[in-house]
Amino acid sequence: MAGNWKMNKTAAEAAQLVQEILEQLHAGAKVEVLLLPPFTDLDKVREVLGPNSTVLLGAQNCHWEPEGAFTGEISTAMLAGLCEYVLVGHSERRQLFGESDQIVRRKLVAVLEAGMLPLLAVGETQQEHDQGLLEAVLVRQARAALLGLRPEQVARCTIAYEPVWAIGTGRAASPTDGARAAAILAQVVAEAVGRDEPQVRILYGGSVTPETAADLMGARGISGALVGGASLRAGDFCRIVAAASG
Ligand code: PGA
Repeated sequence: MAGNWKMNKTAAEAAQLVQEILEQLHAGAKVEVLLLPPFTDLDKVREVLGPNSTVLLGAQNCHWEPEGAFTGEISTAMLAGLCEYVLVGHSERRQLFGESDQIVRRKLVAVLEAGMLPLLAVGETQQEHDQGLLEAVLVRQARAALLGLRPEQVARCTIAYEPVWAIGTGRAASPTDGARAAAILAQVVAEAVGRDEPQVRILYGGSVTPETAADLMGARGISGALVGGASLRAGDFCRIVAAASG
């Protein structure tokens, strides 16, 4: 279960939120928890988690070059000591910052080469959904990111199906939609590794709340959630984690 904090929380606020999450997380829950704070909070959150925490950390974005004249950007080399995961291809990056499938691919490769784990977000817009383009969009985005990688590289990826129309709208996809998307993505994974062996985890994201989490996590092929808004409230996030522990 992953919490994407987006552009929220100063370092002091982040320290408080993660402290609250730690207090409310059910000890011994067999669910992997991943927090994705802003870059500027990573160090502080890691410090609050402490050296033996099982909670994983991720960044929300990265640049694909290891260093250079890219004002304002953060490289995977800078992140490698701070977090285990990097989110690439979030729809807000694609839509608001013009990230193409090719850019997402370069970032994903950079994350792998830096020894971290990519969390690849894919998903269709409302318009694409209405035009019946779900499968075409997911196949295009996932192929661009994954085809041509070595099978062991594909195995290190996690994919989040995040329908753009469900993000921040309070209108989550149905478990049936989630299962359909997961089946499509599993096929691209099989194509990428050259055999029918879906070993890549697929998450669902978009308006996940404590109320919708259990149903969505019951969807075939969905093994976790990428939570935005609700991950900013420790109580809600921990209830979502508890729902996944089932
Ligand atoms: P949301 O965001 O849970 O607020 O809909 C999900 C996401 O953007 O990852």
